[in-house]
Amino acid sequence: MWFLQIPDIEPLRIVIGDEMLKISKYAAGMLETNVYFCYDNDTHECVIIDPADNGDHIINIAENELSVRPVAVLLTHAHFDHMKAAGEVSGHFGIKIYVNALDADMMTDPEANLSLNFTGSEVSYGREEFETFTDSGSLNYLGRNWKVIGTPGHTKGSSCFYIEDGLSYIPNGASEEKTVPVLFSGDTLFRCSHGRTDFQGGSQREITSSIRDKILTLPAETSVFPGHGPQTSIGIERTYNPLARGYDFI
Ligand SMILES: [Fe+2]
Repeated sequence: MWFLQIPDIEPLRIVIGDEMLKISKYAAGMLETNVYFCYDNDTHECVIIDPADNGDHIINIAENELSVRPVAVLLTHAHFDHMKAAGEVSGHFGIKIYVNALDADMMTDPEANLSLNFTGSEVSYGREEFETFTDSGSLNYLGRNWKVIGTPGHTKGSSCFYIEDGLSYIPNGASEEKTVPVLFSGDTLFRCSHGRTDFQGGSQREITSSIRDKILTLPAETSVFPGHGPQTSIGIERTYNPLARGYDFI
């Protein structure tokens, strides 16, 4: 038996100041899905990514803990554990839910979005309750460009969101701040792992290609925020992710 040695990730110390992006995380629901609050520290506008469960708690975090103003709900894909509270959150704040068009059918189908099998109760949305974006689309929130990277493999419409002008922080031992890109990777890329491919719409061949060709080719310093588990970076995944083995991304 052998164990992978994974280096500690440098703690992300987010600079508090004007026009700075901040990210807060809350793991919700039976599968401990990461709900991300990505917000601008100056305007207090906030994008909520994957409101998984416990909608009242998500609303409370936004309103009372972070004091932010949500402007959109983005879904990385349409499995129930990433969108169960999306309706409650979007209704409360009067904002829209966005998901990849290729996962639209899963939003309306409790069997396809796994809610029926996993929980015994149905989670579904009417087609009028959400908007869709496409692979390679581009969104604009918090005064920044959010590039949609279609990454099929976990589901057909699995998507990652890439913000090139991302987080600013001061690296350990440095005196000047640095800005690194940010990637919300959903269930496509996890720290040293990747999402399951054995559900409807999944494909090992597709997730391998998505991760190798579209994700690990991003800048090494990119901070990655997965749908489950801890944060990582593209540099770490190029070295330690099993799908990177034998590939040279430099
Ligand atoms: Fe999933």
